[in-house]
Amino acid sequence: MGTERTLSIIKPDAVQRNIIGDIETRIEDAGLLIVAAKMLRMSRVQAGNFYEMHQKKSFYDDLVAFMTSGPVVVQVLEGDDAIDRYRKVMGATTFGDAEPGTIRAEHATSITKNAVHGSDSKKNAKREIKFFFAEHEIFSRT
Ligand code: CDP
Ligand code: MG
Repeated sequence: MGTERTLSIIKPDAVQRNIIGDIETRIEDAGLLIVAAKMLRMSRVQAGNFYEMHQKKSFYDDLVAFMTSGPVVVQVLEGDDAIDRYRKVMGATTFGDAEPGTIRAEHATSITKNAVHGSDSKKNAKREIKFFFAEHEIFSRT
């Protein structure tokens, strides 16, 4: 608990389907502050490194191909218990298991194309934020 930062990615499927605004509204409605944001297209090397913990998984190649298929919106979210709070806003990973009202319940179209990424632990949040943002690009609002 306490004020935390987490990394969010609005994935290529969601950008392509023009639902950035819907996702931002859900983030803001959950009381999370957007303290850094940029749009970019990940290279294969970048996506491969970002998901290095999944390198041995069967879905790794499909995931890297998907994450590099178009632009994404990467953001740092800040707030009380931000890591778990955003995971709740996102919903479960497994397609069809996401709780009603969550981003993934509304917008996921497959196990891979699930609209959003959110860090899953303090350690990973720190790593993932550093992966995309320098400290001077983050604007604390608390
Ligand atoms: O994103 P999240 O932390 O909920 O799930 P993950 O287990 O860390 O997996 C990372 C991403 O890989 C997921 O968000 C999916 O896009 C993709 N994935 C997949 O394509 N097939 C799976 N069986 C599991 C995950
Ligand atoms: Mg994960």
